[in-house]
Amino acid sequence: MTNKTQNSKGERMIQRAEELDSFWAYSAKELPQDKQLLLLDNVQFIYELALAQLELKSLGVNFEVTNGLREFKLLEIKDEELLRRKLAYFKFVKGKPTDYFLIIQKNRTRSVNQYLTHWIYPYKGKFHPQMIRALMNIIGLKQGDTVLDPFIGSGTTAVEAQLLGINCVGVDVSPLCVLQSKVKTESIDVLPQILEWKEEIINRIKPSLFNLEGKTIDDVINLIPNEKVKNFYRMAKLVAISDNARRGREFSNAFLKNLELMISSVSDYVEIVRKLNLRLGEINIKAGDSRALPLKNDSIDGIVTSPPYSIALDYVSNDAHALEELGYDISQIREEFVGVRGKGQKRIELYNEDMKKSINEMFRVLKSQKYAVIIIGNATYMGEEVKTVEFIIDYAEKIGFRLVKNVDKIIFGLFNVMQKENILIFIKE
Ligand SMILES: C[S@@+](CC[C@H](N)C(=O)[O-])C[C@H]1O[C@@H](n2cnc3c(N)ncnc32)[C@H](O)[C@@H]1O
Repeated sequence: MTNKTQNSKGERMIQRAEELDSFWAYSAKELPQDKQLLLLDNVQFIYELALAQLELKSLGVNFEVTNGLREFKLLEIKDEELLRRKLAYFKFVKGKPTDYFLIIQKNRTRSVNQYLTHWIYPYKGKFHPQMIRALMNIIGLKQGDTVLDPFIGSGTTAVEAQLLGINCVGVDVSPLCVLQSKVKTESIDVLPQILEWKEEIINRIKPSLFNLEGKTIDDVINLIPNEKVKNFYRMAKLVAISDNARRGREFSNAFLKNLELMISSVSDYVEIVRKLNLRLGEINIKAGDSRALPLKNDSIDGIVTSPPYSIALDYVSNDAHALEELGYDISQIREEFVGVRGKGQKRIELYNEDMKKSINEMFRVLKSQKYAVIIIGNATYMGEEVKTVEFIIDYAEKIGFRLVKNVDKIIFGLFNVMQKENILIFIKE
């Protein structure tokens, strides 16, 4: 076999696999009226089945799992409509689709987790959004409550809270994360203005007759008076820069393609909010430090977060090109990041100290009898396993949290440094 045929066969196989992956969660050909509670097709891991059962219990459902595991029998149910509106792991409740099932159809990517605006910017170490929705249900968060994610990253908690009508405070030390999280949750407020600026921006990207004054795309972006619209276009540029750096795609083509996709995703979001009559949560994304949160004591109804995984991922190096593009000095930024300071044993000591401060802060701002979910794993560093999970449980319990649940979760993509993580659910007593 020649290299060429081998390659095209390989490409076809990848394409087939991607097509399968993109459609398996969405088939709604017939509505199974007799199915009382049917799991979504993408639910496949033991931890997901465990979370699916926990979310049902939290929403006051008495149920029995049938032999096939994909179908649950309803024994007692308080509010059928509430279930349809909130559930994360289920496709149908008594023959009618859940909101979540309809929401995830609004997807412009090949990955089931990247629906609506979740996909915008390829950030490493993103949460699984479905799991975050389920966890918010499990810890009893309701419309109008406030959830905190002190390490908001790419904004997954913010988007999921917004969809459920839960207010969210998201904090991150990285300006790139603050920007992403804002764009994913705020662009829906300014879709018409985004469309008004589109032509002007596109004219700067293509060297053409329309660009006689020689204005650059940055010059035009800086002219945009509305901060949310400006952020949208700054993000579009960063997505294209990343596409160019990672895939070698020519910048202006990457920009035009991603801009269309971003606009379609924001339109999808606006449309699904209207169609499902969603009452959105208020989102407040702040640049800040998890070790000194800009929040009052006892002001938060729940926490869902994943701190940096000690030494598993260096967020500063990972996003260096985007941070520099935003005008930041990488060496200075590094000092404020948890998990990337120091070398060797010192790095672990500094990480542990920073995590203690962050856990103290979570405890301080959380209301009494409310829950904090921390998702964290043990990484392998210099050939040894760093026992971060045990360290966090010990310290959190020392300051007054009590661990009420510890769920093992398998992870992919970081195989050489981490194979599993733990979903730790604490209550503030
Ligand atoms: C594991 S990631 C969070 C990913 C997030 N759950 C998501 O879905 O994208 C950890 C985040 O912590 C942030 N971080 C690091 N040090 C911080 C600090 N001192 N204060 C706040 N955030 C910090 C990093 O910028 C990174 O985005």
